[in-house]
Amino acid sequence: MEKNVIIEAKDLVKTYGEGETITYALNHVSINVYEHEFLVIVGGSGSGKSTFLNMLGGIDNVDSGEIFVNGDDIVKFNDKELTLYRRDSVGFVYQFFNLINDLTIYQNVILAPGSRNKAKAYSLLERVGLKGKEQKFPRQLSGGQQQRVAIARALNKYSEILLCDEPTGALDDASGKEVLKLLEEIHNEGKTIVLVTHTKEIAGMADRVITMKDGKVVKEEINEHVIKAEEVEW
Ligand SMILES: Nc1ncnc2c1ncn2[C@@H]1O[C@H](COP(=O)(O)OP(=O)(O)O)[C@@H](O)[C@H]1O
Ligand SMILES: [Mg+2]
Repeated sequence: MEKNVIIEAKDLVKTYGEGETITYALNHVSINVYEHEFLVIVGGSGSGKSTFLNMLGGIDNVDSGEIFVNGDDIVKFNDKELTLYRRDSVGFVYQFFNLINDLTIYQNVILAPGSRNKAKAYSLLERVGLKGKEQKFPRQLSGGQQQRVAIARALNKYSEILLCDEPTGALDDASGKEVLKLLEEIHNEGKTIVLVTHTKEIAGMADRVITMKDGKVVKEEINEHVIKAEEVEW
């Protein structure tokens, strides 16, 4: 695994509330993301995983800390710079897909901000196993298929990094496994993936595993025995 740092998050703090009811969603979190790695962040509900991922994606703002991406601290970005960063530098995959229900599958993939071109959308939909479904609407697809549309949408950008928040969380086991297999392939093709989940078994397919608890990193380990997505059971 190459060891080029592509994201360096330093000492991130994010709180909600104040005084006696203050919650530290992130309590001095420092995490590096390395080029081409498959990083899985595990932790129970409320441990700060989504908050952290949203910070990396530039869709939430920190109280303090720094997030260096290609030498720029995105925490210091103004609105315009952040919009461009979100559009061009990161792909997002969410638990509940976040597709636009009034648009076809094809339109969902081509109308995403920062998307590439139309021909690319067709090949990406084929790539995720949805050839022939281009003119369907999200509601006509299963959950697993909708998540694959979301992945195609995220891939229809120039970004090198894919951020996945509980991508199997709303899926049955078989569909969840299909999604993991697809992420494994995408990683093998060179994409950097950061996946956060409360399903600790998914950590088996990671190159590196970080455990969060109560807004803190409590463990960080290189996975010595990476298993195939096919072998992940939960
Ligand atoms: N918008 C919000 N308002 C208040 N508290 C929040 C908000 N978002 C997250 N939190 C709190 O921050 C903590 C971390 O949340 P989150 O990052 O969503 O955890 P996870 O994704 O690991 O389940 C939790 O205690 C949660 O209740
Ligand atoms: Mg979450």
